[in-house]
Amino acid sequence: MRSLIDIQELSPEEIDRLIAVADDIIENPGKYAHKCEGKKLATLFFEPSTRTRLSFEAAMYDLGGHVLGFSEAQSSSSAKGESVADTVRTVSYYADIIAMRHPKEGAPMVAAMNCDIPIINAGDGGHNHPTQTLTDLLTIKREKGRFDNLTIGFCGDLKFGRTVHSLIGAMSRYKNVRMVLISPDELKIPDYVKQTVLDEKGIEYTETNSLDEAMSGLDILYMTRVQRERFFNEQDYIRLKDSYVLTPEKLKTAKSDLAIMHPLPRVNEISVAVDKDSRACYFKQVKNGKFIRMALIMMLLGVE
Ligand code: NCD
Repeated sequence: MRSLIDIQELSPEEIDRLIAVADDIIENPGKYAHKCEGKKLATLFFEPSTRTRLSFEAAMYDLGGHVLGFSEAQSSSSAKGESVADTVRTVSYYADIIAMRHPKEGAPMVAAMNCDIPIINAGDGGHNHPTQTLTDLLTIKREKGRFDNLTIGFCGDLKFGRTVHSLIGAMSRYKNVRMVLISPDELKIPDYVKQTVLDEKGIEYTETNSLDEAMSGLDILYMTRVQRERFFNEQDYIRLKDSYVLTPEKLKTAKSDLAIMHPLPRVNEISVAVDKDSRACYFKQVKNGKFIRMALIMMLLGVE
């Protein structure tokens, strides 16, 4: 029995396999319509979500399975003080697999240690978000055709942005990948990510405040939202929230085959005028999210 808590638990070969299955689902959805018949996915969301939860649920329905769960902590017994361990133990008697989002870093790992069905980390605080990374990797593969030889700019809230931490972890395993980390000083990438991933893997990276200076060298620009819910005070959020706003004007120096990505939701970071640009990939990410989650659910349930 296997869970997915951190993206690095999947080898690059397993990721290739998941992407191949997702590509096949996109081509032949009918082949997969009964793969999880009789199986149940529980979505336990202690934090808000639109894409992650609904793509998990749509994925399970498209595999012929069923879904149960809750979408806010207030409607579960966690509001009465129940521990994560007791909640997942309970749910494990009713479901075959759990996708869980929680504001506390490490909560999905605690869950995995306390039940014997697979747990999927659907985002834990400012830490990790491995299934967004699978979505991002499928998108990168479909858009760029490769993971090697890429320069990726991560822009915005690199401190609290869990999607950034997980994608850096995944991309650091490919050859000749360079990273440009673009953020205000207060929202720089945490030291633990630098030490355990970037330095450990010998990744070539630079840190800068300037998106304009970085733009022309990028193959991928990964924009992020300033993570308001992780801030201790509202003043800091207000000061930092509009640090970067991507507009058609700012893209003038960008490569013609740049892939513009964002895990969404966006607030102000990408002007809607950019949506018309053929380089905008963020709604493709949304679409891809369901297919790669279908592939992941099958893998963790041991469905051929
Ligand atoms: C992200 C998340 O929840 O970390 N959203 C998502 O799952 N697509 C990004 C964010 O909330 O900014």
